[in-house]
Amino acid sequence: MIALACDHGGFGLKKTVTDYLEAKGLAYKDFGTFSAQSCDYPDFALAAAEAVASGECDRGILICGTGIGISIAANKVKGIRAAHVHDVFSAKATRLHNDANMIAFGERVIGPGLAIEILDAFLNTPFSGDERHQRRIDKITAIEKKYFK
Ligand code: RB5
Repeated sequence: MIALACDHGGFGLKKTVTDYLEAKGLAYKDFGTFSAQSCDYPDFALAAAEAVASGECDRGILICGTGIGISIAANKVKGIRAAHVHDVFSAKATRLHNDANMIAFGERVIGPGLAIEILDAFLNTPFSGDERHQRRIDKITAIEKKYFK
């Protein structure tokens, strides 16, 4: 199950994303927003991030105007590694190296074609499992444990 969330700045691109997920037969849960009316991205980031952190969803997709605010908010949830990505290379690398469990991009930054290529790379690239990458992820978790209760 894929968690999906956006604010008004990402509402148009979310439709492109849901069309893609449906065409691929990938199940998703849409945490909103459900209109182009102005809203606050942390509300939607929180709902989707909690679904990923709890295991209800395996991965998550976040969209706002820039992808920045919604990724910052999601990364405050324990267990979330949300990657703010606008190119295919980084989408692959963040899966291979960081085992990112959420991806964020901005509707005001990239077009729908690139967004789908990025998403495709993100969803279809496994974590490398390399010891050095796992060690670094474990160190991120240790930072999280130190600062987030
Ligand atoms: C909304 O205007 C905009 O600030 C938001 O979508 C996002 O880009 C924030 O980082």
